[in-house]
Amino acid sequence: MPDDANPNGHPKHAFATRMSHAARPPIRALGFVNPPVYRGSTVTAQSCEARRENAKQRFNRVMTYGTQGGPTHYALEDVVAEIEGGTHCTITGTGLSAVTAPLMAWLKAGDRCLMPDSVYGPARNLAENVLPGWGIETQFYDPCIDAAGLEQLWTPNTKVLYLESPGSHTFEVQDVPALTAVAKRHGAVSMIDNTWGIHSFQPFVHGCDVSIQALTKYVGGHSDILLGSVTVASEAHHLIVRNMASALGHYASPDDCWLALRGVRTMPIRLRHQAESSLRVAEWLAGRPEVMEVRHPALPGAPGHEIWKRDFDGACSLFGIVFQPRYTEADIFRFVDGLKLFGIGASWGGYECLALPTNGMLVRRVTPELPGQAVRLHIGLEEVADIIADLEQSLANLPA
Ligand SMILES: Cc1ncc(COP(=O)(O)O)c(C=O)c1O
Repeated sequence: MPDDANPNGHPKHAFATRMSHAARPPIRALGFVNPPVYRGSTVTAQSCEARRENAKQRFNRVMTYGTQGGPTHYALEDVVAEIEGGTHCTITGTGLSAVTAPLMAWLKAGDRCLMPDSVYGPARNLAENVLPGWGIETQFYDPCIDAAGLEQLWTPNTKVLYLESPGSHTFEVQDVPALTAVAKRHGAVSMIDNTWGIHSFQPFVHGCDVSIQALTKYVGGHSDILLGSVTVASEAHHLIVRNMASALGHYASPDDCWLALRGVRTMPIRLRHQAESSLRVAEWLAGRPEVMEVRHPALPGAPGHEIWKRDFDGACSLFGIVFQPRYTEADIFRFVDGLKLFGIGASWGGYECLALPTNGMLVRRVTPELPGQAVRLHIGLEEVADIIADLEQSLANLPA
């Protein structure tokens, strides 16, 4: 990731500089560098009249009750809007709630949503098991579809194009500008889960209307909080998101927002280091005879690699490997169990290595199954030589 990466057209500073300075208290009260944690349910007003006036502007950061958030939330919202290149951001309690809130805000009975077949599993769950009960249909599409293919799937009641690039577990990079252009022509809203592309992909430059982040991952950075964000690029869209988040009672702990604000200061350095390590590990794995395919968008030959080169300024540290078809699930479990530096678990973006066998978690409706057993790797801040040595010692657990 280039040091001077400046995809927002920011006139002055590089990413790391902006993350060091964004949303700090304008007047450094008592000399403290960081904003404090504002906790609270009750927010009192100067007078009854003032309270009534405040209530009219409740989506405008005029506080009348804790569920609207407070200064700690707003500081984080400003930082995330800066990262994503949007104008307004809403913080939610989890990444998953940041996925579901905008879908629920824009879809109504009789509408149809288009979702990539590689979508994050719980988003698929909403689409397949909840939205149909409200009269909303979802059509899954091949994440590698082009504009002409998407056009063929379009119907007059298609109101939302959902994207996730690269896709969960299979890591296909989508042609976001071409696909969002189709949605725009039809007057539909394009939403992207941009968690993998944090900082390296600018969603609004590429035609998206709504960008979702699981802040749980790299912004939190320490595997100890859950948070999400929904960022948009207009006030009209912001009011739609805010209204739904408010209607559903979405809220995030201000303590977690404060931890996320702390995480964001070091995120550029962590991201760059982890991205570099992950590419070295991916390249090493690509040369191993046990591995059939490494699905890392920055590796030539990975699905959508050319699009990644065109649209992204970097990568993160999450990718997949597909083993040669001769290995069984039991073989791969033995390999993962044999790793000493990798935790076996979900989530990613923390400082530590994780490994997860993924075949059993994959649901695909319109794209083929993977040809072999797959493992998702998250590369942490451990020394890359140690990580590779650990993988090597456990590959020895596989039958010859
Ligand atoms: C791509 C993606 N989006 C959203 C989420 C949801 O985030 P959270 O765990 O904060 O609910 C995840 C979690 O793993 C994810 O991988």
